[in-house]
Amino acid sequence: MERRRWLTMAAIIFSFFVLSAAREHKVNSKYNLPRYNHTLARILVEYSSAVYISDLTELFTWTCSRCNGLTKGFEMIELIVDVEHCLQAFVGVAKDLNAIVIAFRGTQEHSIQNWISDLYWKQLDCNYPGISDAMVHHGFYSAYHNTTLRPGIMNAVKSVKELYGDLQIMVTGHSMGGAMASFCGLDLTVNFGMQNVQVMTFGQPRIGNAAFSSYFSQIVPNTIRVTNEHDMVPHLPPYYFHFPQKTYHHFPREVWLYHIGFGSLVYTVEKVCDGSGEDPTCSRSVSGNSISDHLAYFGVQMGCDDVVTCKILMDPRLAAYSTQDQSGNFIMSMSHSNSIIKTNVETVELANCIFSSG
Ligand SMILES: *[C@@H]1O[C@H](CO)[C@@H](O)[C@H](O)[C@H]1NC(C)=O
Ligand SMILES: *[C@@H]1O[C@H](CO)[C@@H](O)[C@H](O)[C@H]1NC(C)=O
Repeated sequence: MERRRWLTMAAIIFSFFVLSAAREHKVNSKYNLPRYNHTLARILVEYSSAVYISDLTELFTWTCSRCNGLTKGFEMIELIVDVEHCLQAFVGVAKDLNAIVIAFRGTQEHSIQNWISDLYWKQLDCNYPGISDAMVHHGFYSAYHNTTLRPGIMNAVKSVKELYGDLQIMVTGHSMGGAMASFCGLDLTVNFGMQNVQVMTFGQPRIGNAAFSSYFSQIVPNTIRVTNEHDMVPHLPPYYFHFPQKTYHHFPREVWLYHIGFGSLVYTVEKVCDGSGEDPTCSRSVSGNSISDHLAYFGVQMGCDDVVTCKILMDPRLAAYSTQDQSGNFIMSMSHSNSIIKTNVETVELANCIFSSG
């Protein structure tokens, strides 16, 4: 009798441990790993494609050729053009998503081939402010933090929130635009205390080391990094397996697109990868040797619509909506009240990352 009671007791204690361990595990993965939503990816890839449009009139009025698919009805709030660094971003409201969408275009100063070959040599040369051991690439970091994009975006997000209240914030971009979208998602959460921030990028390069990546995934857990087949860019700057302290490291969660089948029976698999950021069974299982896989995601054309890079076309009538700074950078804003480039956003100033020789 005594013995049986003891056994029952032991069984109860044992199952308590098993159950609580299981529960804890579940909470963890829920916290760290976002669910991948295919429908949302198909929509956001179109925003990431549209931000490349060089005809600013068409882009601002959302009448461009890349503006009328799944993104129809998008309400543009602000278009920011950093002429100095050849960067572009917009902020607006997607009513169907009940969200603010922020999209980034990376630099197009040189050909995409040159840009990609430069990626091999990018150093982890900047300490991410406030996080010990977290290192990033200075160029990617400052393209977001040390240009007109950041204050322009913050002003626009603030005015949207005043108008609409709290909406989900979705930050997106392709290639280098994806790198900037990542820094923006982190910035909105950490330095502006915004909630409901999610990030989805397409074909983005690595931007920091393992310490940075694990910090990133804690702060912006709702992040999806879509990669495509043999796209070169997600393989760069290189990941050196044997130098864990020195190497770049992606953050989770990757979703790798690849095709299987033959001829007319080809279909696309969307593989949702593990929580490591460097799942060896995803894009890392193939060699990154394709530029064309970089330039089409879900069949949507990414990259510039024009061979002449960094060209700007604008109808002079739109000048009324736009404000310039001394360097020629400008913001086009639907809300006139807000059309001033404010460089002093009242927050922790992060423009200067700490250079490191490491
Ligand atoms: C996926 O995203 C779409 C578009 O935002 C949304 O309508 C749908 O409810 C989402 N699905 C799930 C399962 O969350
Ligand atoms: C920030 O930008 C200014 C102007 O382009 C430049 O002089 C400065 O060196 C940059 N700072 C950093 C840390 O990149």
